[in-house]
Amino acid sequence: MNDRNYHLDFLRVTEAAALSAARWVGKGNRDSADQAACEAMRATLGDMQMRGTIVIGEGERDEAPMLFIGEQLGSGDGPEVQIAVDPLEGTNLCANGTPNAIAVLAATVTGEGHLMHAPDCYMEKLVVGPECKGVIDITLPARVNLRLMAKAMGKDVDEMIIGILERPRHDALIEELREAGARVHLIPDGDLSVALAAMDPDSGVDGLMGIGGAPEGVISAAAVLCCGGEMQARLVFTSDEQRARAEKMTGGDLDRVFHTNDLASGNVMFAATGITSGDLLKGVRYKRGHALTESIVMRSSTGTIRRIETVHQSERIYEF
Ligand code: FBP
Repeated sequence: MNDRNYHLDFLRVTEAAALSAARWVGKGNRDSADQAACEAMRATLGDMQMRGTIVIGEGERDEAPMLFIGEQLGSGDGPEVQIAVDPLEGTNLCANGTPNAIAVLAATVTGEGHLMHAPDCYMEKLVVGPECKGVIDITLPARVNLRLMAKAMGKDVDEMIIGILERPRHDALIEELREAGARVHLIPDGDLSVALAAMDPDSGVDGLMGIGGAPEGVISAAAVLCCGGEMQARLVFTSDEQRARAEKMTGGDLDRVFHTNDLASGNVMFAATGITSGDLLKGVRYKRGHALTESIVMRSSTGTIRRIETVHQSERIYEF
């Protein structure tokens, strides 16, 4: 597969999902926003010349009407591609018109790369940009990682900003980091956007810590791999049933530390388009007769990171 060209096709897919979800920004209807993003993503993936399989999607076949795990998409000829999708990462963010809702996917050609088939459970995550690669260890206390990161970045600890989902489960972590001197960037949802922001030295976010969704974690790892950052993670289960499902899907030692390469490796493509403006990407904006999107597209094989602003003519915006 010539991923030089394919990754631009994937860009069209996230743009289509973002444009469709954007119609629902601020309307308080998360289900309609999600459905619009899913339908657009599925239609545009279906147009691609490939034999695509969804490995991370909207859920199991019996839970999700489309983009379910195992769904086959594409023309039926061309390369075999594994695709991890989140058509609307941050359904509440979109419904409430708050920052960091994105449409996102990662993909790899079967045999050329690997995306972990993550179960729908939680994942403890530690995500850092290239400057901190090789210095972190998720098994150490957060305050120690904070100091290691600050040293690697040439910053004082009180200049460090760590993104964390605002959840009661993170109260102790937030207190520990604040006591150590860090500043905490609390987000209501959307830890994938903040993991992306941690890759960019100009974003103002130096790292992501805490527990979020495992599927979002794998897609984050694809971006981290492309950017040369580092991610370490541990699966977190809230029931025996979840653990059993994870055993079936991933096998191996479920309690170990997963490194970037365990989650995403080899030749991986990543594309994301902003729906609401956030830490890294601007959201969909409308101007007389057209809509603007901002996206980021990356390939691990070359480490190329493209930021793409696209002008969409209005008559084409709603055609998905
Ligand atoms: P959705 O897009 O499915 O609403 O997920 C948003 C999100 O905030 C993710 O970014 C995050 O990984 C996960 O949910 C956290 O889950 P929870 O809300 O259960 O803490």
